[in-house]
Amino acid sequence: MRLSQYLARLFVALLAITIIPTQAQQAGLSEQQLRQLMQMAEYIGVDYPEAVADGEIINTDEYAEMEEFAQLLIDRGQQLADSAEAVTIRAEARALQEAIQRKAAIAEVQVHTAKLRQGLLSIAPALSLPTTLLDLNESRALYQAQCIACHGVEGKGDGPLAAQLEPAPTDFHERERAENRSLLGLYDAISNGIDGTAMTAFKNLNEQQRWSLAFFVGSLAFTGESADAAEPKLSLQDLVMYSPQVLRSDRPDFSPSQ
Ligand code: HEC
Repeated sequence: MRLSQYLARLFVALLAITIIPTQAQQAGLSEQQLRQLMQMAEYIGVDYPEAVADGEIINTDEYAEMEEFAQLLIDRGQQLADSAEAVTIRAEARALQEAIQRKAAIAEVQVHTAKLRQGLLSIAPALSLPTTLLDLNESRALYQAQCIACHGVEGKGDGPLAAQLEPAPTDFHERERAENRSLLGLYDAISNGIDGTAMTAFKNLNEQQRWSLAFFVGSLAFTGESADAAEPKLSLQDLVMYSPQVLRSDRPDFSPSQ
């Protein structure tokens, strides 16, 4: 190893020690931190069109958030324990920042956000998933009891409280958004809430209920889809970890529906 590389590694190691002294995880970051980074990468892939269109900034606040998230991905990437995956994650985080600064097209940004998520998923501990979900009627009843004040009876983001909320509650029927959200991302939003918005953490619900709601709201944009498509050969882990768009790019026959 060249001396400069050695020093760079040492520097990163020291940085990690001073910044996260209590964490001894293999990845260098806690599971929760890794999941937050995945969530940020996913949000950039989803919200970027609200910040940039045709190479121009169309919303300075949204754009500032994109830059902030990209910088955080870079900074946290430095804290990862060295591994081939960490090298990829760091390179993708830098490429993402560069694409945002260049106000690149959404397709290019999404290539980097997808690779970042994939890298983070590969070093995160395996997900613990419930063995069964509530059935559709139970999920709908739970949604009606807990969520309609903001998200609306049908999930269109038009509940009685919606008008006074900024940002507005998500419209789960918005196809483009749903295409780019993983079930894991929805589950984490329900479990941890979304900072700075009316979306709070639903700690009162157990894991099975939160997963069931993630599947329920995540499927709304795809209801009425033809069920003729061949049964997707998909593991549950893959199904929850990747967005419909990413899943479909690997499997053209995949069509998410309830
Ligand atoms: C008090 C209002 C309120 C209630 C009640 C509420 N939400 Fe939300 N929710 C929001 C808002 C506002 C957002 C959008 C936040 C943003 O734009 O970052 C949101 C976002 C979300 C998201 C993220 C969607 C995405 O694509 O990023 C999910 C998932 C979600 N809500 C699920 C639920 C579920 C399930 C319930 C019921 C258990 C619920 N929400 C109840 C206000 C609420």
